[in-house]
Amino acid sequence: TDLAHIRNFSIVAHIDHGKSTLADRLIQETNTVSERDMKEQLLDAMDIERERGITIKANTVRIEYTARDGEDYVLNLIDTPGHVDFAYEVSRSMRAVEGSLLVVDSTQGVEAQTLANVYQAIDADHEIVPVFNKIDLPASDIDRVAEQVEDVIGIDASGAIPVSAKTGEGIREVLEAIVTRLPAPKGAPDAPLKAMLVDSWYDAYLGVIVLVRVIDGTLKKGARVRFMSNGAVHGVDRVGVFRPTMQDVGELGPGEIGFLTASIKQVRDTRVGDTITTEKHGATEPLPGFKPSQPVVFCGLFPVDNAEFEDLRDAIDKLALNDASFSHEMETSAALGFGFRCGFLGLLHLEVIRDRIEREYGIDLVTTAPSVIYHVHMRDGSMIELHNPADMPDPTLVDHIEEPRIKATILVPDEYLGDVLKLCQDRRGIQEDLTYAGSRAMVVYDLPLNEVVFDFYDRLKSVTKGYASFDYQMTGYRQDNLVKMQILVNEEPVDALSIMVHRDRAESRGRAMCEKLKDLIPRHMFKIPIQAAIGGKVIARETLAALRKDVTAKCYGGDVSRKKKLLDKQKAGKKKMRQFGKVDIPQEAFISALKMD
Ligand code: GTP
Repeated sequence: TDLAHIRNFSIVAHIDHGKSTLADRLIQETNTVSERDMKEQLLDAMDIERERGITIKANTVRIEYTARDGEDYVLNLIDTPGHVDFAYEVSRSMRAVEGSLLVVDSTQGVEAQTLANVYQAIDADHEIVPVFNKIDLPASDIDRVAEQVEDVIGIDASGAIPVSAKTGEGIREVLEAIVTRLPAPKGAPDAPLKAMLVDSWYDAYLGVIVLVRVIDGTLKKGARVRFMSNGAVHGVDRVGVFRPTMQDVGELGPGEIGFLTASIKQVRDTRVGDTITTEKHGATEPLPGFKPSQPVVFCGLFPVDNAEFEDLRDAIDKLALNDASFSHEMETSAALGFGFRCGFLGLLHLEVIRDRIEREYGIDLVTTAPSVIYHVHMRDGSMIELHNPADMPDPTLVDHIEEPRIKATILVPDEYLGDVLKLCQDRRGIQEDLTYAGSRAMVVYDLPLNEVVFDFYDRLKSVTKGYASFDYQMTGYRQDNLVKMQILVNEEPVDALSIMVHRDRAESRGRAMCEKLKDLIPRHMFKIPIQAAIGGKVIARETLAALRKDVTAKCYGGDVSRKKKLLDKQKAGKKKMRQFGKVDIPQEAFISALKMD
């Protein structure tokens, strides 16, 4: 296809504002798939995405559209992930297209994630077409949303297109706007090949599938190509496009978006943002801006049943093949036995991986406290990157500790502002900005990442009844008064409950954890002290009283089958427990103990 007849775009939206529904509608309107094959929300392929209603992997589709000017156009939609953890992936897919549809739910208005993603689109010099969705609903208020888009985002909303992705109203206008308002891609067909790696994923039949945007030159089937970040050379087996099912084409020219396969075994070997060129007469300079994504949140994953360790290893290895941003190494814990220390892009990423291990592989897990990477500066001048509080060196050898900070943007209706400010303040936040747009406030806080990784989202949602939206980016490291706090149960330290905490907060955190554990640990035949300590110094203590009677004592001797039932119940309950010295601690205690409320 010649460049003048190609349009490449992405859809920017907050979760639930209707991105997938709109994409489905565009596909349907142009008959890209037959009605029969039109599954609802075609683009959200993975089950887990569908269930959580979150798009995790970027997907793409090629649409053919005959415009009102009578010409045939190829429209390539790249579907971007909608969550903050995947900001880097979003920024890469934005570089692969020239324009964006900004979808805003006209019954809701602009949200923090919309902001973050739209700024990425602006950074990538996109032409942006605002699309106001859900106009079929009575609560739809186009004027209010238009005003917000102009006030909060600062882009012209006069040409916004009102649509209902549900009824199909306005969809033709969207297609026309893509053709008439978005620029055609540029590129030199005769230059050496430069294709940007936008995304990749593992397919059981085809191996790794690589989604590319050709910038210059031509990508041909049969060519030998080089991945410039690591120098690896592969023979291209297939070149094709998504309609949305895979269809082979002989080649992809400049401006085009499609896939290649090349017998690549691991997704790890295909880094998002990498430049692909030909082995011979290739480009010498890669495309700018490549950086491999780095995990920022770490936690330990242990099987509840130690016998499942090998199954867990297998599950983690498989997941890692498909996810270059997920790191793992073996870990042993005195309390939990063998497991893995895993690194994630953020909390959502952590939850998704944990869920998949539990559901797809059927392994019950104990998850230890999420931790960030601390920079521990030693007296001898060296610096240790601490991923796990259990590895904290002897404090007398430590000079100072730095922790990662974030810039958080929160959009919230007025009436909840006070609670949000208090929450941020409680989490050691420093307010940087506070502005209003209509009846909503936008607050910007500088916060320690460590205070956000436990349950900040949950708390934010609960204090605002779900009306706040949240987005963050990492800003850098700052020194603070941080210490390692241990929890001792029956005088034994439970390493999985060790956390790094600010000195001023240690006592209240310690007390809260001891109280929680007291409620969560069942009584035993003996008295159990539960303590929080820094170094050798106990800073909080609770005592769990001893149990007097056996549960079966309730049965007044007689009924044997009832006694047996109770014992079976106990046994099943035991499976969900971990033994520490002589004490059984239930699995849920590990996460619950860390929640702050
Ligand atoms: P993520 O994939 O989670 O980012 O969400 P999304 O932005 O893709 O939203 P999705 O398309 O899944 O739509 C969210 C909900 O809004 C779904 O229940 C849709 O059925 C509904 N919805 C989408 N568009 C419209 C619309 O025009 N009118 C009405 N009434 N509902 C809509």
